[in-house]
Amino acid sequence: MENSHRHGTSLIAKLIDEPPVKADNPIKICDLTFRDGHQSLFATRGRTEDLLPIAAEMEKVGFWAMEVWGGATFDTMHRFLNEDPWERPRQLKKLLPTTPFLMLLRGQNLVGYRNYADDMAEAFVDRACINGIDVFRTFDALNDYRNFETVIKPIKKHKKHFQGTICYSLTKARMGGEVYNLEYYVKKAKQLENMGADTVCVKDMAGLIAPYDAYYLVKALKESVKIPIHLHSHFTSGMADLALLKAIEAGVDIIDTCLAPWAYRSSHPAIEPLVMTLRSTNRDTGFDLHQLAKCSEHFEKISPKYRHLLDDRMSTIDIGVLLHQTPGGMLSNLINQLRDMGASDKLNDVFAALPQVRKEMGQVPLVTPTSQIVGIQAVNNVLFDTPEERYKMISAQSKDLFFGLYGETPVPVDKEIQKKALKGYPRGEEPFGGRPADVIDPEMAKNWEDTKGLAKDIDDVLIYGMYPMTGKRFLNWKYGKEPIPAEVLPKTLEQCAKEAELVKKAKAGLLVEKPAKEVPEKGEGARQFNVFIDGDYFAVEVEAVGGAPMITGIAPVAAPRPAPVAAPKPAAAPAAAPAAAPKAAAAPIAGGAKLEAPMPGMVIRYEVKEGDAVKEGDVVMILEAMKMENSITAPASGTVKQVCCKEGQSVQKGDVLAVIG
Ligand code: CO
Repeated sequence: MENSHRHGTSLIAKLIDEPPVKADNPIKICDLTFRDGHQSLFATRGRTEDLLPIAAEMEKVGFWAMEVWGGATFDTMHRFLNEDPWERPRQLKKLLPTTPFLMLLRGQNLVGYRNYADDMAEAFVDRACINGIDVFRTFDALNDYRNFETVIKPIKKHKKHFQGTICYSLTKARMGGEVYNLEYYVKKAKQLENMGADTVCVKDMAGLIAPYDAYYLVKALKESVKIPIHLHSHFTSGMADLALLKAIEAGVDIIDTCLAPWAYRSSHPAIEPLVMTLRSTNRDTGFDLHQLAKCSEHFEKISPKYRHLLDDRMSTIDIGVLLHQTPGGMLSNLINQLRDMGASDKLNDVFAALPQVRKEMGQVPLVTPTSQIVGIQAVNNVLFDTPEERYKMISAQSKDLFFGLYGETPVPVDKEIQKKALKGYPRGEEPFGGRPADVIDPEMAKNWEDTKGLAKDIDDVLIYGMYPMTGKRFLNWKYGKEPIPAEVLPKTLEQCAKEAELVKKAKAGLLVEKPAKEVPEKGEGARQFNVFIDGDYFAVEVEAVGGAPMITGIAPVAAPRPAPVAAPKPAAAPAAAPAAAPKAAAAPIAGGAKLEAPMPGMVIRYEVKEGDAVKEGDVVMILEAMKMENSITAPASGTVKQVCCKEGQSVQKGDVLAVIG
């Protein structure tokens, strides 16, 4: 580092207690502990009551900003924590009156998972400004900035900070190649500057950015745009501290960190070692390590409430990201999906298929939701394509992407596959080149109408508009119209300590189990029943003893799936609906061509009814698997003789969905 060492080595031992040297160009720090920290480590379950007690001390640190809202917080707060999402910034503001609040805004997706109408986007951002958000980190999964046009208006109207974001992506192991090269990032940064961005953020959500790529990228951006450059890099792959340091050497203006207890793993580098690393250099943060330690102590103290949510692998880094450039969350989704389809041995085939599928889908950045769309399409191609036909099973979301509903892809999609995907597509067979929200009708009037008598103000209406099902449920809790379920209530540290004590006892073998009862001999009168519980199938034998029936033995027919070891990682999108209790499909009639479920899933709807004429390849029904909707097509031409399932029903792979004769 140039002009970095102002002191001789003999002074280094004294540095920790020395007041920081005033640097010419101090690096600015945005703290993410209150949002991305717990979103990355604990499925966004951080509660306001655990943030408030330390807020006033955080104020004294001198952060450039603190990220406190947005991303998945709005969803988890109203869904899992029984918290009004709007309350958090309002309450924190009272204790942090001067530190600017940053939120992560998903462009036209706001804090949800689809594009919302313009009237709703404007209303949402307007309310976010009024409720205390100062800096809007705005991103789009395709880096299509037309998806920013609407949300910028209220940000500017309220004179707030518009941070334009570039999602960092790669098509090979390091930066470069035909799409994600220096020219691409410089072009994107200039677009943002021209749109009125106050800062540009490079958002490396998967921890892909290599330290020297960070160096050259920041150098290039600093030479090309005037506005400050901000780097956001997750630690996931283990490179982020090095990347931040090289970015600092290249002149990056602002970086993102977390307090040590909620740093690292899939979260962010910790601030404390960086403060020491930069002490007495030209980029000295000026932070007081003792003050940071005071804040960190609080998070150490409350962490027992969240520990059970932490990924319990030994390794703190995920070298899968280095091997496949696949975001950690996307990889675990692929593994789960293949396992559900009984095709776990196909993972390497999926890795081989991914680059081509992504290329055919326009080399989109791999970030929610595009990572799921591309990943699931690659799985579908591996499982269902034949040597004669590719893209046999195209999900509805892939079709939307080929249509242009998410926006413009970085490079054009494959024209042949696009044509195939849009055959019979409800919005039209010609791809759409406009701004995605232009095809969405206004939503706010309907949101007001739907919440009449329940919502008290526009913030309530927006909770419903964003998440109609769980939003309405939350409003019912909020206004005492429905009892609040125990699982959304907070736990105290005392309760956590008791639980930990029990686990300790169990591990030491001190928990005495009740002796198992002897199983009586099975008599001749035993009758067998099939019992279905949560998707698992048990054969139960029941025998009457002294007039009362008694269960003599329960044998799982298919080994039940083991309970997940760790709590589910932050789901990209919440499960659409609780899986309906599976009912057996109607027994198919004899004869005719049987349309079988190609994968386990849930019946969304049938597009045909009994008696309809269909041609081979016509869509018979829509099956949802892994949150993606798949069109299931007729295996032969003829008449629909039988529809075997009902809407909402769960089906297994191979179940007959319809008979065509
Ligand atoms: Co992040």
